[in-house]
Formats: sequence, C-alpha cells, structure tokens
Amino acid sequence: MLFKLLFLLLALAPASIYALEDTVFNDDVLGLIVFKAGLQDPMGKLVTWNEDDQTPCNWIGVKCDPKTNRVSELVLDGFSLCGHIDRGLLRLQFLQKLSLANNNFTGTVNSALSHLANLQVIDLSGNSLSGTIPQQLFLQSGSVRLVSFAKNKLTGNIPQSLTTCFSLELLNFSSNHLSGKLPSGLWYLRGLQSLDVSHNLLQGHIPPGIQNLYDLRFLSLHKNRFSGKLPEDIGGCLLLKSIDFSENILSGALPHSMQMLTSCTYLNLRGNSLTGELPPWIGELKNLETLDLSSNNFSGRVPSSIGNLQLLKSFNVSMNYLTGSLPESMANCNSLFSIDASHNHLSGNLPSWMFRGAMPSVPLSSQRLGENLSSPASLGSLQVLDLSSNVFCGHIPSNVGELGNLQLLNISRNHLVGCIPGSIGELKSAYALDFSVNQLNGSIPAEIGGAILLEELRLEQNFLAGEIPVQIHKCSLLSSLILSHNNLTGPIPAALANLSNLENVDLCFNRLSGSLPKDLINLSHLLSFNISHNHLEGELPVGGFFNTISPFSISHNPSLCGAAVNTSCPSLHPKPIVLNPNSSDTNGNSPSHNHPHQIILTISSIIAIAAASFILLGVVAVTILNIHARSSHSRSAALVLSAGEDFSCSPKTNPEYGNFVMFSGDAEFVVGAQTLLNKDAELGRGGFGVVFKTVLRDGCLVAIKKLTVTSLIKSREDFESEVKKLGQIRHHNLVALEGYYWTASMQLLIYEYLPSGSLYKHIHDRTGGNCLSWRQRFKIVLGMAKGLAYLHHNGIIHYNLKSTNVLIGSSGKPKVGDYGLARLLPMLDRCILSSKIQSALGYMAPEFACKTVTITDKCDVYGFGILALEVVTGKRPVEYMEDDVIVLCDMVRAALDEGMVEQCVDERLRSNFRIEEAIPVMKLGLICASQVPSNRPDMNEVVNILELIQSPSEADEELE
Ligand SMILES: *[C@@H]1O[C@H](CO)[C@@H](O)[C@H](O)[C@H]1NC(C)=O
Ligand SMILES: *[C@@H]1O[C@H](CO)[C@@H](O)[C@H](O)[C@H]1NC(C)=O
Ligand SMILES: *[C@@H]1O[C@H](CO)[C@@H](O)[C@H](O)[C@H]1NC(C)=O
Ligand SMILES: *[C@@H]1O[C@H](CO)[C@@H](O)[C@H](O)[C@H]1NC(C)=O
Repeated sequence: MLFKLLFLLLALAPASIYALEDTVFNDDVLGLIVFKAGLQDPMGKLVTWNEDDQTPCNWIGVKCDPKTNRVSELVLDGFSLCGHIDRGLLRLQFLQKLSLANNNFTGTVNSALSHLANLQVIDLSGNSLSGTIPQQLFLQSGSVRLVSFAKNKLTGNIPQSLTTCFSLELLNFSSNHLSGKLPSGLWYLRGLQSLDVSHNLLQGHIPPGIQNLYDLRFLSLHKNRFSGKLPEDIGGCLLLKSIDFSENILSGALPHSMQMLTSCTYLNLRGNSLTGELPPWIGELKNLETLDLSSNNFSGRVPSSIGNLQLLKSFNVSMNYLTGSLPESMANCNSLFSIDASHNHLSGNLPSWMFRGAMPSVPLSSQRLGENLSSPASLGSLQVLDLSSNVFCGHIPSNVGELGNLQLLNISRNHLVGCIPGSIGELKSAYALDFSVNQLNGSIPAEIGGAILLEELRLEQNFLAGEIPVQIHKCSLLSSLILSHNNLTGPIPAALANLSNLENVDLCFNRLSGSLPKDLINLSHLLSFNISHNHLEGELPVGGFFNTISPFSISHNPSLCGAAVNTSCPSLHPKPIVLNPNSSDTNGNSPSHNHPHQIILTISSIIAIAAASFILLGVVAVTILNIHARSSHSRSAALVLSAGEDFSCSPKTNPEYGNFVMFSGDAEFVVGAQTLLNKDAELGRGGFGVVFKTVLRDGCLVAIKKLTVTSLIKSREDFESEVKKLGQIRHHNLVALEGYYWTASMQLLIYEYLPSGSLYKHIHDRTGGNCLSWRQRFKIVLGMAKGLAYLHHNGIIHYNLKSTNVLIGSSGKPKVGDYGLARLLPMLDRCILSSKIQSALGYMAPEFACKTVTITDKCDVYGFGILALEVVTGKRPVEYMEDDVIVLCDMVRAALDEGMVEQCVDERLRSNFRIEEAIPVMKLGLICASQVPSNRPDMNEVVNILELIQSPSEADEELE
C-alpha cells in the first residue's frame, strides 16, 4: 500500500495528470485516499475510507453512479476537516457534486477543479479559503449549475470568466472580502435564479440589463458599497420573490418598473439614501410580506394603497422624513405583526383604528378602501408597534389594550398628553412598553399589574404624579423600570423587592418619600438603582447591590442615611460592642497610654469581633427563649386577648382580659389596639420594644411602649410589682411611667409623651440647622446626671443609656427614659442584657464582656461619661469613616494627652462655649468612662463635680 501511495504522489505531479487518465486500477479509491492523506480529520469522520477497498462507493460521504460505479457525489459537509483541497480530487473524473461546506479548509480555491468536466455543484461555503477566485476556474465549466463560496475569506474581484457559465442557476459569494464591480456579463447568465453577493466590499453602479435574468427569484446585494440608482429595469425580473439592496449607498427614487414585481414577498431597501415619496403603486405588490424602507431619505405621506397589502407582515419605514399620519386603510393589513414608523415626522393623533383589536368591528367606509372588505379591519395580530420619535399629539387611545398580541409598544418621544389608559393592563403579551418623553399626566394606572409578561417599562420624562402602584409586583418578569423625571410621590413599594428579575431601576428626579424597603437587597440581578433627587429618608438597605451602589444613584435625598451616603443612621450600629483589649487591666492606667494606636480600629477587625460575639449571644438567647417559651405556654393558654384585639372596653376586673392600669387617675384609650399600634403612630424602636404615640380619652398624649421580649417577661404578679415600683419613680429629669397594660401575650408601658424628640436627634440631626448652645448642652449633662443619681438612689440601674433614650422636654430639660426595664426580665443575664438592651455601640461598659465582674450601677456611670462626651463634641460614640472607625472616648483621650482637647468641642459651636467648663466636662466624661468600674465616680459625686464646674454666674441664673 505504501508503494501505491508513493506512486500516486509522484504520479500526481501536474505533468503526469493526463498520462494517468487511462490507468487500469480504480482512480477513485486512490484519489480519495490521497485527498484524505492531506487532511486532518479530528472527528474521525473518514475512518471508513480504507485504501484496501476495491471501490469507495460505500464510504461515508461518497456516492457512485450505479451505471459506471464511479464516484458522482462527494458530500462532506460539517465534518470538521482541516487542510487544503488537494489535487487528489482531480482523479474523480465523474464527479458531479462536490460539497465541502462548513469545514476548516484553508488555502486557495484550486483552479484545477475546472478539469472535472462533469462537475455541476461546487459548494465550498463556510470554510477559511483565502486568496482570489481564479479566472481559469470557470473557463471550462459549462455544466456548473451551482457555485457557493459563501462565508470564506476570499478577496479580489468576481472573475469575468464566470459569465461563461451559462448553466449557472445559483451563485453565492456572500460573506467574503470581494471587491471591485459586478461584472456586467453577469446579466447574460439567463438561467440564474439566485444571486447572492451580500456582505462583501463590492462597489460601483449596478450595471444595466438585469431584466435579462427573467428566471431570477432571489437577489441580494445587501451590505456592499454599491452606489448610484436602483436598476431601472428590475421590473423585468418578473419572478423575483426576494430583493435585498439594503445597506449600500444607493440613491434616487424607487424605479417605476418595480410595480411589476407582483411575486415579490420580501423587499428590503433599508439603509441607503433613497429619496422621493413612497409611490402609490406600492399597493400593487400584493404578495409583499416584508417591506423595509427604513433609514432612507423618503419623504411625503405613506400612501393609503398600503392597505391593499393583505399579506404584509412586517412594515418598516423608520428613520425617514415621512409626514402626515399612517393611513387608516392599514387596518386592512390584518396579517401585520410589526409596524415600525419610528423616527419620522408623522403627526396628528395616535389613530385609534390602529388599536382596534381582533373583535368584530364596523367595516370602514368602502369608498375609501375600494375593494376587499371580506375580513374585519383590525390589526389584531400586531406584535410590534413602534411610533416613537415622531410628532404625534393628543391622547393615547383608551382602547390600546385591545391589541392583545402586542409584545412591544413604543410611543415614546412624541407630544402625547393626558393619562395612560388603564387598558394597558390588558396587554397580556407585552414585554416592553415605552411611553417615555411625552407630556403624559395623571398617575400610573394600577392596572399595569395585568401586563404580566412585562420586562421593560419606560415612562420617564413625563408629568406623571401619584404613587408607584403596588400592583406592579404582578409583573414578575420586569427587568427594567424607568420612571425618572416625573412627579411621582409616596413610597417605593416594598413589593418591588419581589421583582427578582429587576436589573435596571431608575426613579430619579421625582418626589418619592419614605424609606427604602430593606428587602431590596434580595434583588440579585440589579445592575443600577437610581433614586437620586427625591425625598427619600431613613436607612439605605445594607447588603447585596446596595453595598456598592454609586453615590450618584442616591444623591440629593436629604434624609437618606447609611454608609454609602457617608451618614450613619441612628439604628444602623451593629449590635455588639467594640471590645477594648485592655478592659481587664486593673492597674488603673488609661489604656490609650500604652496603646496609642488603638484609637482607630479597622472595619474588618470590628466585623470580626462583632460576628463572633453576635453568634455567641445568639446561641444563648435562643436557648433561653426556648426554655421560657415552653414553661410559659401552659400558663398563658387560658388568656384570650391577643395583640390584634380591641381592648379599649375590656373589663378591668376580668382576669381573662387585659388589665389597664394608670398610676394617677383613670383613663382609657380612645381607639382600639389596631389603630393604636399602627405604623403611622410609631415613634421609634429599641431593644426592648416599639414605641407608639397615642391619645387617651382624657385628651392626654402618651407614648406607649409595646414590649417585644414577651417570652422573657416574668409572671403577671412579678411584672406588676416591678412596674409599680418604676411607676413610683418621679423626677423632673426622668421620663415618667404613667401606667401599664398586661396580658400574657402583650405588655404595654405607658409613658409621658415628650414632643421634642431625643437627645440624639438634637445633637446629630443636622437638617434642622439649629444647634444646641453651650449653655443648653451643659444643662443637659447636668440634668442627666441628676436623673441618674436619683435612679441609683432608688436602687434602680438603668442598663440602657444612650442618646436616643434621653428625651428633651420643654425648655430644653433632659429626661432620661427607658430605665430599669432589665428588672422585668426573669434573671439578670448579661448576655440577654448585651443582646437585648445594651444594643447601642459605644455606650456599653466593658465589664459586660467580662463574666467575672459583677454589673453594678457603675455601668450607668460609664454610659453617662460617653453621653457627656457626645454632648460636648457633637460626635457619635463610634463614628464610621470611609475606611475605619473612630471611637469617641479614645479620640478625646488622645487629644487630651496631646494638649489639644479643646479642638474636640463641637465645631458648630465655633468659639461660643466656655472653655473653662468644656475641658473639665470632657475630663469628667473620660473619668466616668474608665475601663475599671471602681475608678468611676458615683452619680452623686458627678452631680457635685458638675455643679462645681459650672460658672458661678450661670449657677445663679439657674437658681432663678
Ligand atoms: C477550525 O479550526 C479552528 C482552529 O484551527 C478551530 O478553533 C475551529 O473549531 C475549527 N472549526 C471547525 C468547524 O472544526
Ligand atoms: C448563501 O450562503 C449563505 C451562507 O451559507 C446563506 O446564508 C445564504 O442563504 C445563501 N444564499 C442563497 C441565495 O442560497
Ligand atoms: C439624506 O438625508 C441626509 C440627512 O438629512 C442628508 O445628509 C443626505 O444628503 C440626504 N441624501 C440624499 C441623497 O438626499
Ligand atoms: C408636580 O406636582 C406639584 C404639586 O402637585 C405641582 O405643583 C408641580 O407643578 C408638578 N410639577 C410638574 C412638572 O408637573
């Protein structure tokens, strides 16, 4: 065999080809084996090709003529073969069809193929052939019917010799790099049925004479550089079904002869510079299914004869200079599924006939339409309607919902006014609605929820008002929601968080208010979320997309807080404390002396500490909760009042019902529990419960705290005796407990209501512009100290000091609230205290973290020390900066060591403070915040010291 091959390789030197023609052994086997030998066959497609076989007729891809037993067809399409198209093939003298499409053949087209005199079909499409198409290839190819070199890398001109292939029916050179002109002789190939030279670099005018191709059915010159006019005589090609001249630089008007092309189903002239009006004869092209005249320079009106195109499915005239409106006759084109008339100068009202659904309707005036009224005129099958960027005016027709098959409706960038009709909810197939950049007003109809397949909703740049309808959550596929630049008010509906496919949300430049739903962080596909220029407030959601949200997306919402806007929120602090490694240091040294670099903790270390302590606290809390839930269950089973029930008229004496007790006199709630404890009345939340504002029957305003640690509460008897003790505490620097309400499932504490808000608000809320004066601040520090001293005197530890728990009464008097609640717990477990009460970062005495130290009222002294520093400096106990965390007491301590402590005083006071008071107060604060409890003074001593610090003149004033 090796010998045979060797012989063949030698024999196939060009000079020997003819000498070999009359050899006796089967040329076909050898020819194919040589062809195979020059190839790579990574998929092993040609393994059946065995050189020892007598005949190749059973080989895969090979077909023989049964009479001669010689190879007539070689079809190796899609075999992943690589290599050159070898001369071995030249042995196949009886080959009629050679199809090597969609392989990886490289090199040039071998001109010797022309020696295969019987060849009728050459399909080399979809390879990587390069170089030019050889002239000689077509010189002796009188029998070739089909030539396809499509999708290769061929360059150069289309060879003139092609024009001698008189049998040619199909010529496909599409998707190469061919250049030069179309050979004019092409029009002599009278048998040509398909000519495809699309996607090349051909140029010049289209030569005249195309009408000779009277058998032509398919013509594509798409995407070349042909210039000049459309061929005037094209109408001679009467059988043309598909015409594509798109994306060239053709100019001039549509040739008149075109009206003869009545077989034509596809006419694409997109992307040229064609001019003139759309001729009325276009209605003669009765078989047209696709008419694309987009991106040209057509002007004038769309002729009403368009209505004669009964089979028209796709009508595209976008990006021209068309005027007037679309003719009503188009309602007759009831096969239409796509109308694109965008980017023109179309005017008038949006025609309501356009939206007439498939339901039977009154036939149009027969005069106007002439013929053909057999079917009801409607565009019921319409799937795409794009009328954007015109000058349409008037209202959106209310019957817009009748087009039940509509998938895309774009009427953006017009001059439309009025409301969006509720019938858009009937667009059950729509995936995109774009009404943007009009002058629409009214609100977004709640019916939008009916458009259940909606993926994109664009209503930006209108005058829409009202709220974003919550029903939008029914559009569960929504991925783009663009409502920017309107006048929308109200909150961002929480239900938005259920739209899990949301990617782009733009709500900027509206008047939205309220806080952002926390669950928005679950939107895992979000790419953008722009809420800038609104009136949103509260905390930005933490997590997910919102951790990396761009500052521009949230800017200009004055009350929005969170890390991304560089404003920390009152409730944003993570629960656990910043542990100071020196908290067990008992030698009394201030830790900062030893470790001056600990002032700034990195975020990551805080998170690590926080996470560890959080897990520990969580485990213990859950255990305790479980134990208590089990033991209290049997006891509470008999009690019927639940939090949701109305208790305003419950008989006080019946033990089955809740007991409402006021310490001074009698009062009753005006309203029931539902209204009492609703969200609007909510004043705030703490570790122990939620506080609501309500009015009693006697007209007094009170604050009601609904305890949320129900399962930790003691028995009713213990609860009542503790609460009564707290009720006896009366001091003008303490918020008075006025009464309580008890059932097994709900406990309320009724407090005096102070309208001015918390100390936190007075210090840190910078929106008001008012800033506490030095005198007010000193009064607050002293008042807090007096309140705490009174508490301690009565044996009550506060446990939960922080600036949100200090309220400011009339005339600026501070009142400490939320005291003693830990007494309601069945046991004083420091873990529960840590997790439930002492949740405010920075105020918590270090001994909470140390199991061996008993907790005394000195923990309140620590908290007071931090509060005093907070009041003087105007800074939070822990401030989150860009990349690190500043712990207030460490900062003041360091400044004191460096002799610059006066720089710590709140800069908003400028120089309007008494330095002789401010520095001692800060020093006192630091002493109170000593790491070791025994180093801290008693609250009584604190009061005495503060009274000494106070300037004599001010103290006198105080007495008045
Ligand atoms: C052609 O070859 C290239 C690399 O040579 C390879 O990446 C590609 O998959 C091949 N194509 C086919 C159809 O085998
Ligand atoms: C030409 O070849 C391309 C690529 O194979 C194909 O998409 C196109 O339909 C062919 N044209 C004709 C007229 O057969
Ligand atoms: C088509 O319109 C464009 C834009 O107005 C213009 O630049 C171009 O010259 C026009 N072409 C013809 C052929 O009128
Ligand atoms: C937005 O609404 C407010 C109040 O309803 C109104 O005064 C204002 O003119 C509206 N703005 C626009 C652009 O419609």
